Amino acid sequence: MKNKNFAKLSINNKTYNLPIYKASEGNDVIDIAKLFAESGHFTYDPGFTSTASCQSKITYIDGDKGILRYRGYDIEELAKNSDFIEVTNLLIYGDLPNKKQLSKYYKLISNHTMVHEQLLKFFNGFRRDAHPMAMMVGVMGALSSFYQDSLDINDPHQRMTASRRIIAKASSIGAMAYKYSIGQPFVQPNNKLSYSENFLNMCFSVPAEEYKISKVIANAMDVIFILHADHEQNASTSTVRLAGSSGANPFACIAAGVASLWGPAHGGANQAALEMLKTIGHKKNISKYIKKAKDKNDTFRLMGFGHRVYKNYDPRAKILKQTCKKVLNHIGIKNDPVLEVAIELEKIALKDKYFIDKKLYPNVDFYSGIILRAIGFPPEMFTVIFAIARSAGWTAHWHEMIEDPVQKIGRPRQLYSGNKKTKYGVRRSTKNTR
Ligand code: CMC
Repeated sequence: MKNKNFAKLSINNKTYNLPIYKASEGNDVIDIAKLFAESGHFTYDPGFTSTASCQSKITYIDGDKGILRYRGYDIEELAKNSDFIEVTNLLIYGDLPNKKQLSKYYKLISNHTMVHEQLLKFFNGFRRDAHPMAMMVGVMGALSSFYQDSLDINDPHQRMTASRRIIAKASSIGAMAYKYSIGQPFVQPNNKLSYSENFLNMCFSVPAEEYKISKVIANAMDVIFILHADHEQNASTSTVRLAGSSGANPFACIAAGVASLWGPAHGGANQAALEMLKTIGHKKNISKYIKKAKDKNDTFRLMGFGHRVYKNYDPRAKILKQTCKKVLNHIGIKNDPVLEVAIELEKIALKDKYFIDKKLYPNVDFYSGIILRAIGFPPEMFTVIFAIARSAGWTAHWHEMIEDPVQKIGRPRQLYSGNKKTKYGVRRSTKNTR
């Protein structure tokens, strides 16, 4: 981070020179790290809309142009030419592997696809109707108790082992959560299959019948995993970094990421988007819901629309729209009412002044649910699949955070607006209205 330029900030007639660091691409940053020590002021930025919390080399997004790149590679090229495991390698190691490195890496990951036998019993503690994300949060955290030989964050070998375990076991745990919720026996991983084929097999095969894995569906699964693998400092990734900054073990940090992802404004939006499309039900009802979305007094939002960073069409949604058509065509679904509503809703919203002015475009969650539903997943599994994919990005960021020499425990400050010193007992009965 070289800096030649400074921003000047005046507070009470005193001027502070704040270094400006150049980004290799995208927005430069103003370093305010010493501002509090020198001026006694904090900065205020709810939701961190103007705050870079770290320096990162992993993912680049240009929200205005609709660009997403992992380690410099365009997402479109990765989705077309790579599979998910190769992309996890790219995210963690920094560049695409050669053939030899890749085949060694496949083996290293597949060595960890099975879970400890005792962990299977862990599932019995959950209610059958538990949301699979609830199981995902719990079981991911529980890995800390099973893999105690990879908890030392100061040992690079243990850190790498933990990462491979997380990536390999995320899909096994996700599939087990699904099987548990539908009352079917767990299916053990099969290391002869690719990551996506193996996940489909663990979810859909049963002891009584063979499950034929379709290349088209496995490829769509890879595309979904690749597109969800990372997205720079989003809420769940920032949660993983913040949890990790205290020195917490990697499995606990990833569990924190899963919890953060679950919310409907983040990873939970794919389930919410599909449910919304089903509720709309028919093209003739779209205008009613567009009206609701624009009404300030209505909490309804178009799920799968809008993004904190993209002020253009989300490049992931563009790829998924094509994948969606391929999958439905392959399965032989000709007139899917949900897809029809989605395409028409998108068309209407993109011409509507409200959505144009606010730069609200379809995001990754708009089409992913339609594909996953066509493959056979219930809506509750959509966010689980997002979490499986994002485990790769979380892990890459966790590594980068630990290896960053300027890394400190994350400790935001606040603008205190509560009571000043108060005499004990004065407000006890009059002001406590809760
Ligand atoms: N439908 C209707 N209005 C919207 C929508 C929407 N989906 N999204 C934003 N707006 C309006 C919002 O009401 C606000 O209007 P105003 O300026 O008049 O108050 C304006 O647009 C800006 O919205 P914001 O909430 O301040 O923007 P944000 O950057 O904080 O939120 C978002 C981004 C993704 C949370 C939001 O667009 C949203 O809630 N979308 C629906 C949920 C969704 O699809 N989430 C998935 C995000 S992509 C997957 C991921 O990365 O996790």
